[in-house]
Amino acid sequence: MKKIIFSLFVALSSVTTVQAADANAGKEKSGACSACHGPTGVSASPMFPNIAGQNDAYIIKQLKDFKSGSRTDAMMAPMAANLTDADMADLAAHFSSLPSANEQAAAAGSSDESTGSAPTTAPAAGNVEIVSSTPAAAIYAGNVAAGKNKAVACAACHGADGNSLIAMYPSLAGQSANYIAKQLADFKSGNRKDPVMAGMVAALTPEDMNDLAAYFAVQSTNAGTGESNETGHKLYLGGDAAKDVAACVACHGVAGKGMKQAGFPSITGQSKDYLKKQLTSFRDGSRGNDNNGIMRNIAIKLSDADIEAIAQYITSLK
Ligand code: HEC
Ligand code: HEC
Ligand code: HEC
Repeated sequence: MKKIIFSLFVALSSVTTVQAADANAGKEKSGACSACHGPTGVSASPMFPNIAGQNDAYIIKQLKDFKSGSRTDAMMAPMAANLTDADMADLAAHFSSLPSANEQAAAAGSSDESTGSAPTTAPAAGNVEIVSSTPAAAIYAGNVAAGKNKAVACAACHGADGNSLIAMYPSLAGQSANYIAKQLADFKSGNRKDPVMAGMVAALTPEDMNDLAAYFAVQSTNAGTGESNETGHKLYLGGDAAKDVAACVACHGVAGKGMKQAGFPSITGQSKDYLKKQLTSFRDGSRGNDNNGIMRNIAIKLSDADIEAIAQYITSLK
């Protein structure tokens, strides 16, 4: 009898542990994951695995291994570094509860066909799909032509075609539309602080932001004209294992073009001054709009000399 009560107790307590993992909380926490693994756990890029419908125990084990370093991956290491056991359990509960990639494809089958037959428009005049990792914003479209009209207000600082001529103002040409729309929303909410941009975005609606993002995203980026350097080159491509600095290339790409769908910004064509200012701001936390501290956790480990070398190196990317 004692034994039965004991095993009942064990059974009940393990049920409670399972229930403690909260799929809804996991969904809230999955914003940063959706950048690579897709909002529904099905990745848009062949580089990233689908995790929807995966076994939750397997997900938890992988996240623990990425955190401890027993499974190594330059992208997942910084993602897992800040997760607590509870975060991992919640995220696993969320992703395992989602229909698998095959199930999602089967469910979307019919609607895919109808959009497939819709007339396609050239990017220069059409719509740009914007996927935001902000939970509230699902998938919406920005209109390039409408954005062009609205961008007149931005030209003085960012250039008419989004290539800035003044070092303190960033270029927007060829930037990820997802990233631009997120920055504009962040300036408006105060999540990213800049007195000049706060004034510029105050009257913008989400539709304006999407249109502006779409317009700048389809402009051509000017290639960098700066000099390369060995220290910056090594840091960019290999990171710094001793200081646990992730390689920039993992997210910003070999040519600095970023990952558009993921909202990882292009950093090509920016001035050294602007790059240094952003890295310093992430380092001291005065820029804190990066989901999960993805850039703050990297920048905090960079010395002034690292920032100098790496910013110089980025200006050489074409
Ligand atoms: C910067 C892109 C990126 C982000 C953001 C990201 N991941 Fe990953 N994830 C990857 C890559 C790349 C792999 C494959 C790693 C490898 O090749 O070993 C991976 C693998 C995984 C795996 C193992 C899948 C398998 O089948 O073994 C899990 C689980 C996972 N990620 C969960 C997450 C969660 C949860 C988050 C959010 C907290 C997240 N990832 C955010 C890029 C990303
Ligand atoms: C008076 C000058 C000025 C005008 C006009 C202006 N901006 Fe900006 N913008 C800035 C400055 C300065 C920054 C950099 C803020 C910082 O250092 O964090 C910036 C940053 C940005 C960023 C972030 C870029 C990045 O790489 O992170 C976006 C997006 C942006 N502006 C869009 C716009 C849009 C759209 C308009 C027009 C509606 C506009 N700006 C008008 C000065 C301006
Ligand atoms: C794990 C992915 C990841 C890695 C690795 C990474 N970044 Fe980033 N970086 C991001 C994301 C995401 C943002 C945009 C954050 C936001 O939403 O504002 C960003 C933003 C930036 C910006 C600001 C861009 C702008 O237009 O304002 C700079 C500069 C930058 N990163 C440089 C670097 C450098 C240098 C390294 C290597 C030392 C690096 N990043 C490594 C993901 C990454």
